[in-house]
Amino acid sequence: MKKPNISVLGIGYVGLCTAVGFASKGYNVIASTHDAEKAAKINKGIPPFYEPNLQKLLEETIQNGRLTCLINQTEKAVLETDLTFNAVGTPSRPDGSIDLQFIETSTRDIGQALSQKNTYHVVAIKSTVVPGTTQDIVKPILEKESEKKCGSDFGLCMNPEFLRQGSAFEDTLHADRIVIGEYDKKSGDTLENLYKNFYGKNTPPIIRTTLSAAELIKYASNSLLATKISFINTIANVCEKIPGADVKIVATAMGLDKRIGPLFLNAGLGYGGSCFPKDVKALIAYSKNLGYRLELLEAVESVNKAQPLKVVQFCKELLGSLKGKRIAILGLAFKADTDDMREARVIPIINQLIKEGANVTAYDPVAIPTAKAIFKNKIHYAASAIECLKNADCCIIVTEWDEFKKLKPEDFTRNMKHPNLIDGRRIYNPEEFTQKMKFKAIGLGH
Ligand code: UGA
Repeated sequence: MKKPNISVLGIGYVGLCTAVGFASKGYNVIASTHDAEKAAKINKGIPPFYEPNLQKLLEETIQNGRLTCLINQTEKAVLETDLTFNAVGTPSRPDGSIDLQFIETSTRDIGQALSQKNTYHVVAIKSTVVPGTTQDIVKPILEKESEKKCGSDFGLCMNPEFLRQGSAFEDTLHADRIVIGEYDKKSGDTLENLYKNFYGKNTPPIIRTTLSAAELIKYASNSLLATKISFINTIANVCEKIPGADVKIVATAMGLDKRIGPLFLNAGLGYGGSCFPKDVKALIAYSKNLGYRLELLEAVESVNKAQPLKVVQFCKELLGSLKGKRIAILGLAFKADTDDMREARVIPIINQLIKEGANVTAYDPVAIPTAKAIFKNKIHYAASAIECLKNADCCIIVTEWDEFKKLKPEDFTRNMKHPNLIDGRRIYNPEEFTQKMKFKAIGLGH
């Protein structure tokens, strides 16, 4: 059977990883974006962001011609393909609700292209959108612009994405499940066949459902994961008040219960990134509009907001006033294996340290260029973890990079002016470190 040609709109994490994923399995893929600078990089095989394993596959698929990236040519992308994944961004509005302007404009472009097509084409929404969006906004725009009928002339699906930054390819190639929300059976069959072809005998469970249930599955999944994180952080906060208690052992023991599971129970500075903060807010706002107050998620958010500032408090407990003190920050990215700093926990931490008069020096293996755009010359940037530690009064671990896990107590004692260490991500063994220096950690009974 001939492989369908695929177009992908939007080249953020989801769009680009989808495009490269399909191209790497031999599909012809056309990506389209309005961002000329990013498109130029992609067409040279250079990823516009840091993601392990992306570079090699991107290079390969660009060189063998399976993937091309167009600038502002959605119509061409749709006309030359059989199925379009729409993965444009859905940012937050100031009130937390989602901003659908990119979905609306890209859908208009798709609709206009469909008006010129005589063959069946499926549109699959991959962007995270609140329930009702695909049915009530996307479908009418497509029908109006194309003057065609959804379900017979073209197909429509909502196909949420669950990949994580930092392990995007691993997650794409070994997905736990595929969710297909379908307008009609033919649309769902087309997408299911595509995935069965893509995964072969490793096809994960495929859930077929309505458009709005698929939309809600994405929000409910991200919100539960965010809830697990805030939950374990509240247990961490309790542990800190109990001498001898350590949230790590509590989480390990809890995670062995199959009903609970071990994942997403790492206590620390809370969740950041472009998804959890935005999606939890959007579900709260959406639900409020329906007349239901999501108090549980409001609490999840407020725990998450307070969590990063705890390490500033720890810092003050160790040093007294922070005025003129040198603080070393290890880790700027919102999590390891990415250079993304959207909603990174380090932002409120550094802002508060600066407010208290501290001198901040920071190091991250890949996120320093991103940090420079945010903090400019308000902080210093080090070229290595050891350089960052030199003459510091206190060090705070903010991101759980493997590189930091390898540091030994001597790396801190030999280089710092006063070896005070705060482990905000629980990467060190307290027994090893408390003997050699002043050591505080999230969720550790002091
Ligand atoms: C998240 C979801 O995990 C993906 O399934 C989803 O597809 C994606 O959002 C999305 O909606 O696009 P991502 O934001 O890339 O993926 O990263 P995660 O690994 O989920 O981490 C999010 C934040 O939670 C990070 O700041 C991380 O440090 C924090 N976290 C994670 C914890 O504090 N503790 C944990 O145990 C796990």
